[in-house]
Amino acid sequence: MRVSELLTFALLQASSAWSSPNEPYEARTVPSKRPQHPIKPYHPGKAFPPSPSRTKTCVVKANGNGTDDSQNILKAIKTCNNGGHVVFPKDKKFTIGTALDLTFLQHIDLDIQGTIQFSNDTDYWQKHAFYQTFQNATTFFQLGGTDVNVYGGGTFDGNGQVWYDLYAKDIYILRPILFGAIGLHGGRIEDLKFRYSPQWYTLVANSTDVVFSNIDIAGGSVSKNPAKNTDGWDTYRSDNIVIQNSHIDNGDDCVSFKPNSTNIVVQNLWCNGSHGISVGSLGQYVGEVDYVKNIYVYNVSMSNASDGARIKVWPGSPSALSGDLQGGGGSGAVSNITYDGMVLSNVDYAIEITQCYGQRNITLCNQYPSNLTISDITIKNFSGKTSKKYDPLIGYLVCSSPKVCSDIRIQNINVTSPSGKDLYACGSITGIEKQVHCTTNGTKGGNS
Ligand SMILES: *[C@@H]1O[C@H](CO)[C@@H](O)[C@H](O)[C@H]1NC(C)=O
Ligand SMILES: *[C@@H]1O[C@H](CO)[C@@H](O)[C@H](O)[C@H]1NC(C)=O
Ligand SMILES: *[C@@H]1O[C@H](CO)[C@@H](O)[C@H](O)[C@H]1NC(C)=O
Ligand SMILES: *[C@@H]1O[C@H](CO)[C@@H](O)[C@H](O)[C@H]1NC(C)=O
Ligand SMILES: *[C@@H]1O[C@H](CO)[C@@H](O)[C@H](O)[C@H]1NC(C)=O
Ligand SMILES: *[C@@H]1O[C@H](CO)[C@@H](O)[C@H](O)[C@H]1NC(C)=O
Ligand SMILES: *[C@@H]1O[C@H](CO)[C@@H](O)[C@H](O)[C@H]1NC(C)=O
Ligand SMILES: *[C@@H]1O[C@H](CO)[C@@H](O)[C@H](O)[C@H]1NC(C)=O
Ligand SMILES: *[C@@H]1O[C@H](CO)[C@@H](O)[C@H](O)[C@H]1NC(C)=O
Ligand SMILES: *[C@@H]1O[C@H](CO)[C@@H](O)[C@H](O)[C@H]1NC(C)=O
Ligand SMILES: *[C@@H]1O[C@H](CO)[C@@H](O)[C@H](O)[C@H]1NC(C)=O
Ligand SMILES: *[C@@H]1O[C@H](CO)[C@@H](O)[C@H](O)[C@H]1NC(C)=O
Repeated sequence: MRVSELLTFALLQASSAWSSPNEPYEARTVPSKRPQHPIKPYHPGKAFPPSPSRTKTCVVKANGNGTDDSQNILKAIKTCNNGGHVVFPKDKKFTIGTALDLTFLQHIDLDIQGTIQFSNDTDYWQKHAFYQTFQNATTFFQLGGTDVNVYGGGTFDGNGQVWYDLYAKDIYILRPILFGAIGLHGGRIEDLKFRYSPQWYTLVANSTDVVFSNIDIAGGSVSKNPAKNTDGWDTYRSDNIVIQNSHIDNGDDCVSFKPNSTNIVVQNLWCNGSHGISVGSLGQYVGEVDYVKNIYVYNVSMSNASDGARIKVWPGSPSALSGDLQGGGGSGAVSNITYDGMVLSNVDYAIEITQCYGQRNITLCNQYPSNLTISDITIKNFSGKTSKKYDPLIGYLVCSSPKVCSDIRIQNINVTSPSGKDLYACGSITGIEKQVHCTTNGTKGGNS
């Protein structure tokens, strides 16, 4: 530790440090209060563990010249781990050029008031970002451990433009995910802005008891190369998760429940430009067992999207959606999923359930029914208008066999297409024609 840091550290140990008139830099640094937005109106049912208040404070120094601040960040975090509050001061920009493994965190608050930007060194990140295996996902950092809160009103900036342009040249590059909550047990991520992620904005994997509230997601490409696969959240092997009160302007799933996502509430979201709130895709890998259970999605505004509510499951035989996305043949179950309340505007399909994901040939899909069952699904209280894209269809409900798809309830859907119709493409779901206006016309078409 340098003398100045020692001094800062010593000062900050004393509770009076915040009002010290002799230290202009620290005097401007006021720690944020924990937001702790209430979880409402729905709750996944399990209690969230308590998070004791913190007893010491550390301030992260910013180099301020665009060089890598990772060591400053690690130093502050290590000093304040086990009961501390780390402040990234307002009006400071921090550059991260090193992959940070933060899975050792215990009882710590990260108070991000300023901006954290990841460096644009695509060669470095392709070698060093954390490989998460599932769908070749990689993350800039991995934040895990026990009882971690991240808040403060600041920004995580993924510097995505270089990645959007590089991906246009080579779809096999691995683009890091902006925020990786990996092995996080107990935590609240609140009042933050996520910008320009190279790929998905947030991966929540191997985690339990985590709440995201008041997250503002936005960022796009300024070149002709679009920002692709920019999901808002993907949950994977995670339980008891809440995602609420957030604003998402992106170009892929607004929220996506990947394999083994259980007991999750998503509520009060504004999604624009997305691919909807999606279960899946599931059943991608032969030999893997995927469960998505006990999900409640409530009160979502969905505009300019490909889908509102979506469940996508790969069929029983392998197929390819594109060079870098292929699969099918996995097993498991999707059950007890509720979508309650969605207001749609210019959305291609209000509801899309497919068990033939990646397989455009429905005859072939029916020959090899999915080994991943879909059951106990409720979709209700939708309103608004779809886009012209599939007019007169407003939905697509196509399973691979009635034997593996049951108990689907579609209720109070007040959605119409621009021509005023409300038809669905239906296939292999027993009794579905008693609930919605079916046509078989759509079932020969695309379903990606
Ligand atoms: C950037 O700032 C840091 C901390 O003030 C300093 O140690 C480093 O030499 C600076 N580097 C450049 C390239 O200006
Ligand atoms: C990457 O960032 C550096 C500053 O850190 C800048 O000088 C350089 O132009 C950027 N490169 C690209 C391709 O944006
Ligand atoms: C999650 O935990 C499993 C089992 O310990 C491990 O194999 C895997 O790499 C971890 N991470 C992810 C993203 O699944
Ligand atoms: C990773 O990407 C390669 C190349 O696209 C693909 O063959 C492989 O199946 C992917 N792995 C996973 C786990 O998705
Ligand atoms: C629905 O969510 C919006 C935010 O998108 C919020 O303003 C509104 O109060 C919520 N309505 C209910 C009934 O919870
Ligand atoms: C919503 O998304 C559309 C299409 O992606 C975009 O043109 C528009 O600017 C977005 N609106 C807002 C308010 O972000
Ligand atoms: C999902 O959970 C089940 C049961 O706990 C387990 O057998 C399976 O391997 C898990 N699948 C994945 C993809 O983690
Ligand atoms: C179904 O999921 C809801 C949450 O969406 C939960 O309250 C309920 O207990 C679940 N039912 C079963 C049978 O697990
Ligand atoms: C799918 O399930 C059937 C039995 O229903 C079984 O014969 C087949 O081997 C399974 N396929 C895969 C890829 O697991
Ligand atoms: C779809 O699959 C069936 C069964 O394998 C096959 O007979 C048919 O020719 C395929 N259709 C197209 C358009 O490829
Ligand atoms: C359905 O929505 C339209 C507007 O899109 C509204 O005028 C109508 O009252 C709604 N009907 C019901 C039964 O809610
Ligand atoms: C179904 O397809 C036929 C022939 O393409 C067309 O004439 C008819 O209008 C379509 N019906 C609906 C409801 O889209």
